[in-house]
Amino acid sequence: MLRFLTAGESHGPGLVTIVEGLPRGLEVSQDRITAELARRRMGYGRGKRMAIERDQIEILGGIRHGETLGSPVSVLIRNTEWPRWSEEMSPEPAGSKKQVTRPRPGHADLAGMLKYGTDDARDILERASARETAARTVAGILSKILLETVGVKVISHVISIGAVRSEGSPPGPGDTDAIDDSPVRCLDRTAETAMIEAIEEAKEQRDTLGGIFEVLAFGVPPGIGSHVHYDRKLDGLLAGAIMSIPAIKGVEVGDGFEVASLPGSESHDEIVLGAAGLARPTNRAGGTEGGMSNGETIRVRAAMKPISTLMRPLRTVDMTTGEPAEAVRERSDVCAVPAAAVVGEQMVAFVLAAEFQRKFGGDSVDELLAAVDRYRTGLNRRPAR
Ligand SMILES: Cc1cc2nc3c(=O)[nH]c(=O)nc-3n(C[C@H](O)[C@H](O)[C@H](O)COP(=O)(O)O)c2cc1C
Repeated sequence: MLRFLTAGESHGPGLVTIVEGLPRGLEVSQDRITAELARRRMGYGRGKRMAIERDQIEILGGIRHGETLGSPVSVLIRNTEWPRWSEEMSPEPAGSKKQVTRPRPGHADLAGMLKYGTDDARDILERASARETAARTVAGILSKILLETVGVKVISHVISIGAVRSEGSPPGPGDTDAIDDSPVRCLDRTAETAMIEAIEEAKEQRDTLGGIFEVLAFGVPPGIGSHVHYDRKLDGLLAGAIMSIPAIKGVEVGDGFEVASLPGSESHDEIVLGAAGLARPTNRAGGTEGGMSNGETIRVRAAMKPISTLMRPLRTVDMTTGEPAEAVRERSDVCAVPAAAVVGEQMVAFVLAAEFQRKFGGDSVDELLAAVDRYRTGLNRRPAR
């Protein structure tokens, strides 16, 4: 079973990821992890932190001479700004100005204060912060490396920011660099310009913006996931993983919400015989049927709400005085949809890698590959002709 845990706070000394269940023999370099972490930092509209901080990583275990050992992989990401923060975040007496007592509507602050019985929302927001997704990126890149060995590629792109929507056609597996070259990770250049303008406008208004991104996984064979239990269904696993990303409030698989208003004749993907065997002229289902991959491209979209830390703060209540107040202002992003899309890639990659491991097993990459090859060969014989 492939699983991972992360630990660490946003302004602490660092974050740790432990990934268990990877086979022996995956090639993993420190540079590859660092490059993926850099992708998560991208995007027009990010806060100052992205400019000043670097992700400094240290592999603590599970990798030797550039290859996984089959033991848990552990990676430490140091917060390079920690020396400065350790002073800024030093303990303060109750009632001090450094305490965060004015919870932000839309953040974890109030629910966490009530749940854990604290008047200092910093105890909550330090862990609720999306900084944690840097640690997930480690699990994500390791998953991607596993998927690459079995011919699967996961990419993401931004569909909309605020009211601006891309009208471009869906990208292909080779488009990652071109997408990453866009400041908003969108291939439609007209939409890209309008998205940047929208972010600038929001910033000027001291407001924030959300949007929609899409994750695509190419090369997934049919039969990943299962129909037999609620907690083994691939669409459910993907939706849960994407929804766990901070600020994601909606997930759709394939044409999702759109097909709810269409007749059945326009909602499914007919099965035909193509030159290479079974084929689907359309992919409205987004690559899953009955909780299993069906051999088409996996396609998942996520709706991200606007960032809840506003420079024009919303109304709240000071939890120490009980008086009406303005919500606290933290250093913050105006829009983080491009970065959230990268995290979406990581989560989809993790779910797929875990399901590959569950179906094909193997303590070493060679064992995994042999099982996948055998399965793919069997699929090529269907239907019997
Ligand atoms: C990549 C990324 C960056 C984010 N940056 C910020 C930010 O700078 N400020 C903020 O208030 N929220 C930010 N968020 C969203 C919060 O982390 C999130 O809204 C909060 O933890 C509450 O969780 P919920 O929105 O899922 O309910 C970001 C989310 C992601 C995915």
